[in-house]
Amino acid sequence: MKIALLGCGNVGTEVVRLLHEQSADLAARIGEPLELAGIAVRRPDKARDLPVPRELFTADALGLVNRPDVDIVVELVGGIEPARGWITTAMAQGKSVVTGNKALLAEDGGTLHDAAAASGVDLYYEAAVAAAIPLLRPLRESLHGDRITKVTGIVNGTTNFILSRMTETGAGFSEALSEAQDLGYAEADPTADIEGFDAAAKAAILAGLAFHTRVTASDVYREGITSVSASDIASAAQMGCVVKLLCIASRDGDDVTVRVHPAMIPTSHPLASVNGAYNAVFVEAEAAGRLMFYGAGAGGAPTASAVLGDLVAVARNRRSGARAASESTYADLSVRHMGEV
Ligand code: HSE
Repeated sequence: MKIALLGCGNVGTEVVRLLHEQSADLAARIGEPLELAGIAVRRPDKARDLPVPRELFTADALGLVNRPDVDIVVELVGGIEPARGWITTAMAQGKSVVTGNKALLAEDGGTLHDAAAASGVDLYYEAAVAAAIPLLRPLRESLHGDRITKVTGIVNGTTNFILSRMTETGAGFSEALSEAQDLGYAEADPTADIEGFDAAAKAAILAGLAFHTRVTASDVYREGITSVSASDIASAAQMGCVVKLLCIASRDGDDVTVRVHPAMIPTSHPLASVNGAYNAVFVEAEAAGRLMFYGAGAGGAPTASAVLGDLVAVARNRRSGARAASESTYADLSVRHMGEV
């Protein structure tokens, strides 16, 4: 089974390493070996310490996607275009896709799901939300017989680290942000994290899967953490609460609302003890009751673990002629922006 890997940054590098280190185990689990057909990168000549021949690297991502021997495309470049074009081209040719592209899924996941359904291929994206935490497939498959009513989560590790440090040390926002940047959690330009855009994209994906409807990032009410002060944190503590950046997606009858904002939660709530760069998602379902998913929500290796899990599932499906449940049929729910009355 041949794989085209698009992108070889932190996550792609770990995917290549795991494919190499675990090749025998993966082949045994799938029933045949997984082989890299090529790796598309911006600079194919750059020196890389990876256990693969240099000839695998190419700058021609579309050429790699189009190769007739490629069975599965793994897209780890991110952003809307050209990633969307590569993914839809692959699916139109009957190739299954694994991606971690939360921005694209949150903007245009419906188009991708429709394209997968039309071509009869798989589209898996566990790495797009909360990295290693098995979360999307439980929502998409295990809980499919139930009715989910609410999803509440800490889905951005950088902001959770910042708020945790403010709580632990009494530091202000800027000081805690600098520490997050020094430790490599926050990006040099941390806007997507601290303004809540990253969490809003993840919230849209979670809500779409939880409620079997289409939700885009623009449907999500969003507020970041830049105006949370040390005195807000101290006041919350006096009331027995901590401040967290939460994503909250809820269904009330046929109405769905999705929002991301800082919130005070009582220290007794399971999400209150999720500190540092960790993620956790609390799911409430009518029959299952309350479930919590917790773990590393970012980082090369944890995210690569999610990609490899998807790769095994997709490869097995291709061998058996099965495929994941289609998400192309949606419930007719109205997604209300929080600004609407
Ligand atoms: N910047 C993200 C975070 C990375 O801090 O959670 C994982 O999506």
